[in-house]
Amino acid sequence: MPSAKPAAGDNHVRALMRLAPYLWPKGEVELRIRVVAALLLLAAAKAANVLVPMVYAHAVDALAPKSGVGAAVTVPVALLLGYGILRVMSSLLGEMRNAVFAKVQARAGRRVALMVFEHLHALSMRFHMDRATGGLSRVIERGVRGIATSLNFLLFNIIPTIVEILFVAAILWWMFAVSFALTMVGTIVAYVAFTLTFTNWRLAFRRTMNQVDEEANTKAVDSLLNYETVKYFGNEAHEAHRYEDSLTRYERAYVRSETTLNMLNAGQAFIMAVGLTVTMLLAGSGIAAGTMTVGDLVMVNTYLIQLYLPLNILGFAYREIKQGLTDMEQMFGLLEVPPEVRDAPDAVPLARGAGEIRFDDVRFGYRPNREILKGVSFTVPPGRMLAIVGPTGAGKSTVSRLLFRFYDVTGGAVSVDGQDVRGVTQSSLRHAIGVVPQDTVLFNDTIRYNIAYGRPGATDEEVEAAARAAQVHDFVLRLPEGYATRVGERGLKLSGGEKQRVAIARTILKDPRILILDEATSALDTRTEQEIQTALRDVSRNRTTLVIAHRLSTVVEADEIIVLQDGRIAERGTHASLIAADGLYAEMWRRQAQAVAAAEAAARAQAEADLDRPRADRLGESVG
Ligand SMILES: Nc1ncnc2c1ncn2[C@@H]1O[C@H](COP(=O)(O)OP(=O)(O)O)[C@@H](O)[C@H]1O
Ligand SMILES: [Mg+2]
Repeated sequence: MPSAKPAAGDNHVRALMRLAPYLWPKGEVELRIRVVAALLLLAAAKAANVLVPMVYAHAVDALAPKSGVGAAVTVPVALLLGYGILRVMSSLLGEMRNAVFAKVQARAGRRVALMVFEHLHALSMRFHMDRATGGLSRVIERGVRGIATSLNFLLFNIIPTIVEILFVAAILWWMFAVSFALTMVGTIVAYVAFTLTFTNWRLAFRRTMNQVDEEANTKAVDSLLNYETVKYFGNEAHEAHRYEDSLTRYERAYVRSETTLNMLNAGQAFIMAVGLTVTMLLAGSGIAAGTMTVGDLVMVNTYLIQLYLPLNILGFAYREIKQGLTDMEQMFGLLEVPPEVRDAPDAVPLARGAGEIRFDDVRFGYRPNREILKGVSFTVPPGRMLAIVGPTGAGKSTVSRLLFRFYDVTGGAVSVDGQDVRGVTQSSLRHAIGVVPQDTVLFNDTIRYNIAYGRPGATDEEVEAAARAAQVHDFVLRLPEGYATRVGERGLKLSGGEKQRVAIARTILKDPRILILDEATSALDTRTEQEIQTALRDVSRNRTTLVIAHRLSTVVEADEIIVLQDGRIAERGTHASLIAADGLYAEMWRRQAQAVAAAEAAARAQAEADLDRPRADRLGESVG
């Protein structure tokens, strides 16, 4: 992730403006009442807070020896009680304000997070290919946290403190002299200026610290994830060394960050002490001149100390707000990325048809300077099977991505049942097509969930029927937890063959009229492949099927085979006609046949060698 660069101030303002509507939500009467109530509670808490020193000062004066005896005893007691009540009120009102506002803030976070999430799903494949997914979810997480922190500090710390400062300055001026107000305001201005300047300077150390921390973390996680590889190469010491390197840099950054924090605190305390001393001197001379009482001195002192407390965390609040706003901007920035593929304004749902696929002189490149498909044309009649073969990188998977409309073609047209894919809604198009990819990725959930994903809301019977058709039902039943078995992250707890069968079951459940098998069995061994072929043959019956294959044995039965090379169709025909033509396809076929024969011979030889060896020898090997 790019670390938070100090963004221009107007960006911060823009982020706040984007957030504002969520704080005054349309049509949400309850939330609006909460906002108003929170503001009233804030004002009440501050008022109580400002009254505290006054009552306190009166109590001190009432307790002073010179005042009379008699009735005077009840006065200070009442004042002291009032003092206690006001103090309690001040914090109680503050807590109530937080409680009332919590829902407004949480709702704003929820709305924004959902909006960004939906937008991310609407964004194009190209966008997601270029971004690390973990990074994206972190941007949302940080953005939502940014909303909470900036709101909290701004609404409940900075703004109330400013209000209080103005209040107190007015009181000091009105009750005593302008010199008191000026001293206080002067002290605070100096304090704030020092804090902000110093904090800005320190920010660089903090940033380095966070960066190095993230680096150390990434290294540790990566190293532990690659546990096996580390062992294979015996590189534990190397890993530890790399990790320590990061830790050392972290240590250095941490120490710098901490010592500068201590300097900041010391500087703040110094400014405050100077301000307090000057004020006390003013008050002392006031008392000497008889214009002020001891209670007045206590009051002035209490005001300053009371203001000092929230200012104490000013540096921290400033940093948090700044960071929070930056995180918010990054999140809102995601919303500004336009989806590359959009439904046309007049898009209609794909009309129900038999399932004809047509590529008409299709040209396409992921990047402008490199064309992947250079004029590809073919038609798959409803219910028929077209096979696409060719070397890796020829653009076979690209054909399937274009059919799904993950990208738009740069020339020509792709159509389904005579309708250009750009003229229909993406959801209806994708609903009509099912795909079994080479590397199926499963959700970290149960087998049942993963199969049912093909058609959310399917009944258990339907899920099991699909599993039976995909020949995975019996396997699932043999598992101790059956369909409730969790498949692990990305489905890692299943073997490749099992995962593919789950993927097939999921597609059967979806029941699309067009099926794409994109090297669906390439990652499997020949034997598993043969088993799965039967399941695949069942699924593709009566469906328009696009088979993309590396192993030619799987495409022999196709109605038409096209050989893709360098973005063009080099050959086309049935298996028999292509073999007869003795071109590229025939050549590939011969090479694969040889490879298969060699592999089988090797396997046979190995099996015989194993049998020839003495039994004890083999036992010894397995023990050793
Ligand atoms: N998202 C992408 N961005 C840029 N180039 C890509 C992208 N996806 C694939 N390519 C390139 O396009 C070419 C065709 O890819 P693909 O259709 O996946 O080939 P294959 O025939 O092996 O399925 C490859 O050279 C690949 O490097
Ligand atoms: Mg591919």
